[in-house]
Amino acid sequence: MEGVGGWSWPLHGIRLRTADLDLTVMTEADLPTVWALLPDDLELNPHATTYAGLDVPANRRAVVAQGYWRALGMWSPDDWALPFVVRSAGVVVGAQWLEGPDWRSDRTVDSSSWLVARARGRGLGRQMRAAVLALAFGPLGAEAAISSAVVDNAASLGVSRSLGYRDTHRSVLEHSGQTLQHVRLDRATWDASGWSRHVVVEGVDAALPLFGLDP
Ligand SMILES: CC(C)(COP(=O)(O)OP(=O)(O)OC[C@H]1O[C@@H](n2cnc3c(N)ncnc32)[C@H](O)[C@@H]1OP(=O)(O)O)[C@@H](O)C(=O)NCCC(=O)NCCS
Repeated sequence: MEGVGGWSWPLHGIRLRTADLDLTVMTEADLPTVWALLPDDLELNPHATTYAGLDVPANRRAVVAQGYWRALGMWSPDDWALPFVVRSAGVVVGAQWLEGPDWRSDRTVDSSSWLVARARGRGLGRQMRAAVLALAFGPLGAEAAISSAVVDNAASLGVSRSLGYRDTHRSVLEHSGQTLQHVRLDRATWDASGWSRHVVVEGVDAALPLFGLDP
């Protein structure tokens, strides 16, 4: 993504690689692919705007597109959200988000993700979470990572637990009444896991100022 005078948006230089996956920061050009692959069982932001004149699939596409624009358009070092497109052997299989909603005060990241159904249950969910954790605990200097999932989402909680997250507390979702399990991973547990050795993190230096960090 080369821009005017050779300058491009610094976030788009970030690239993460694991044994089986390649993660690049989502661009507008990725949206049609993401729309086409979006799993039906994925719950999208329940607070997002819905449009009476659009059918359900078109509203889901709108939530995804506006979520992408909001993430990069509303970016600040105090509250950021970084969407990645996940590829396996060059083919898009899912998306992985890393977020720092109160970044400069607590150095804590949150995350969310999805995979197309055929790619699930093979360890790829864990690899893509590990990829963004290597970015967070590595060059971004995070102190902790949190996550949450409804109590019966065994795959999402399985990814968290397999990477060393511990249960913290539960809460109830206002819009659905479902119970949410919250989990947390601290820096010491991440460092001891050795997972960072299995992730290649590239192109972060130019983006550090956007996280409030010195290049
Ligand atoms: C959540 C998701 C990204 C996880 O990715 P995945 O590739 O299926 O998970 P992995 O294969 O990496 O599994 C990681 C761990 O979870 C466990 N796990 C995965 N699926 C499981 C299931 N259905 N039931 C129980 N455990 C499961 C695995 O056994 C593994 O743990 P282990 O190493 O201790 O054996 C994927 O399942 C998905 O896209 N789900 C639908 C969207 C979604 O719910 N996203 C999360 C919203 S918060």
